[in-house]
Amino acid sequence: MEDHGGNVLEVAKKMGVEPQEILDFSSNLNPLGPPPGVAEILAFLGSRVETWAYHPPLFPWELRRALAHRLDLKEEWVLPVPGSAWAIYEVAKVFRPQGVALSQPTFADYARAARAVGSRLKELTLREDRSFKLCLGEMAWKVEDETDLVFVCNPNNPTGYYMPEDELEALVRWCRDKGCLVVVDEAFLPFLDRKGMAPVVREYPNLLVLGSFTKIYRLPGIRLGYVVAPPNIVEKLLAGMPPWSFGSLVQEVGVACLREEGFVEESRAYCRGEMAFLSQAVRDVGLKVFPSTVHYFLFKAPSDLADKLLEHKILVRDCSTIPGLGPGFYRLAPRTRGDNEKLVGVMREVLG
Ligand SMILES: Cc1ncc(COP(=O)(O)O)c(C=O)c1O
Repeated sequence: MEDHGGNVLEVAKKMGVEPQEILDFSSNLNPLGPPPGVAEILAFLGSRVETWAYHPPLFPWELRRALAHRLDLKEEWVLPVPGSAWAIYEVAKVFRPQGVALSQPTFADYARAARAVGSRLKELTLREDRSFKLCLGEMAWKVEDETDLVFVCNPNNPTGYYMPEDELEALVRWCRDKGCLVVVDEAFLPFLDRKGMAPVVREYPNLLVLGSFTKIYRLPGIRLGYVVAPPNIVEKLLAGMPPWSFGSLVQEVGVACLREEGFVEESRAYCRGEMAFLSQAVRDVGLKVFPSTVHYFLFKAPSDLADKLLEHKILVRDCSTIPGLGPGFYRLAPRTRGDNEKLVGVMREVLG
C-alpha cells in the first residue's frame, strides 16, 4: 500500500509541522484544481443537512448520463466507479486472470491487484537507455497463451511515456486474437491533447479503459473514476457493486466537474508551460531528466536528495522502490511558478 506519492499528511505529522507548510511535489495532481464549480457545490451542499440526512441515489445515474454524453457513448458502455484504483482491483477479482502482463516501471497497483488474486506476473522491464519507451512488439511478446490480461498505463506513471493510439490498438487486436483483455489506464490522459482509447472501445470486445477525476480535477479525496467497456463487462462489474457506493456529495461533485467549461484545456496549457520551465530548470541544475509527454517527469539525482529537500519542507516522489528504477530516481510534477522557482533554488543549494 505504501508505494505512492502525495502522503503529505503522514509526512507532516512525522515532522511535527502543519500539512500546508510542506511544498508537495510528490503527487502529480493538477496545480490549478479543483475547478471553481466544485468549491461552490461543496459550500452549498456542506451547509445543508439534507445532503447527509437521506440516502444518496443507489447508483449515480445522473453522473453516468453526463459521463456517457461527454464520451459520446451510450450509457451502458460507461460505469462510474469509486476511484479508478477500485476498478483495477475489481477487474482482477471479477476476471481472475491466470497471467497478467505489464511493463515496469509503472503504477504499483496493477501488480498488487494481480498478486491479490494469485495471477502470475509477466513483467517487461523498460530500458533506461531508451528513456523507458514502451515498445509494442516487446509488449506483445509478453502476451503468451496463459496471459489473459494486460495492463497499460497510458500516459504511463511515473515515466510520462504515451503509446500512440494506433500502436495501442495493434496491441489490443493482437490480444483479442489471443483471448486476452487489455486494461488501458488513462488517469492522466486529460493532461494531453489526445483522443485516447474510449473512441474505439466499441470495436473491441477485450478493451477496458479507465478514467479518473483524481488527477485532472485535483480531487483525490472524492474518490471518483470510471470504466469504459463493452456492456457485458460493465454489467459484470456493476453486478458486484454495493448500493450507495457513491455518497451524495461525490455524485454532485462529479456532475459539477463535467459541467466545467474550458477548465481541462486551461489546465493542460498551464501544466505544459510549467512542465517546460521546471524540466529545463532541473536540467540546468545539471541533472538527467527523462522525456515525458505529460506534466510530470523522471529525473536522476544523488540518492539523498529527497532527505535533503525534506529538511526544507519540500517533498518529492522518491522512485527508488519502483521495479525497473532504483536509488537516485525521482519524479517531479510542477506546481505554480513561484513554488517551482523555490524548488529549483533549494535544489541548487542542497546539490551545492
Ligand atoms: C496511473 C494511475 N491510475 C490510477 C490511479 C488511481 O486513481 P484514483 O484516485 O482514480 O483511484 C492513480 C493514482 O495515483 C494512478 O497514478
